[in-house]
Amino acid sequence: LERGPARGRLTGRHVLVTAGPTHEPIDPVRYIANRSSGRQGFAIAEAVAELGATVTLVSGPVALPTPRGVHRIDVETAREMAEAVEAALPADAAIMVAAVADWGVDAALQKIKKGDGGLPPLALRENPDILATIARGPRRPKLVVGFAAETEKVVEHATAKRARKGADWIVANDVSGDVMGGDANTVHLVTPDGVDHWEKLPKREVARRLADRIADAL
Ligand code: CTP
Ligand code: CA
Repeated sequence: LERGPARGRLTGRHVLVTAGPTHEPIDPVRYIANRSSGRQGFAIAEAVAELGATVTLVSGPVALPTPRGVHRIDVETAREMAEAVEAALPADAAIMVAAVADWGVDAALQKIKKGDGGLPPLALRENPDILATIARGPRRPKLVVGFAAETEKVVEHATAKRARKGADWIVANDVSGDVMGGDANTVHLVTPDGVDHWEKLPKREVARRLADRIADAL
């Protein structure tokens, strides 16, 4: 009998996954960030790897072990994540789960001291939109999936994001409850064919279902 993973539905496919937050330095000791544990993205990387895919996982700073058989690239900022994603192409599918900070800071080279001078000004600049860049780029993967964490009008916002960013699917994530860092997720899968409402599920189960849908689509 053969050893190792059996041939799966995604064998021979390259799937790119982003996960976790990005950290945008303010100075050498401080940063701004989005709230994200990385667990949903890591679970998706693991689930597509279990179906046999070659997986590149571009991860922001998280405290999670690398899933079996997954090639992980660690980054800190949104700009670094954008570069790592470009470098990982071509891919058959890109699943952008990362909670990318929308703004970076023109970081101070030395630690900012409190006290005189009042409050320090934070000069924000907009970060590249990694999902939109990939979805509209020349090396677009066949399937581009975004996530949308929303606190209200979840499906409405996600549907608008799908069109605005040029993604095939958006997984709309209702974060009005206690999702952040928790084990369960309530998601709605927005595709050109409509919206699938999934019941509240463990993040691993969301990942397995999504991996199955990805295999169907590829
Ligand atoms: N995303 C990205 N690069 C960014 C911002 C977001 O790739 N600079 C991706 C996320 O990984 C996610 C999707 O875009 O898959 C939606 O992110 P979200 O923050 O919900 O969308 P925004 O367009 O930033 O809108 P909002 O104002 O609601 O934050
Ligand atoms: Ca955002």
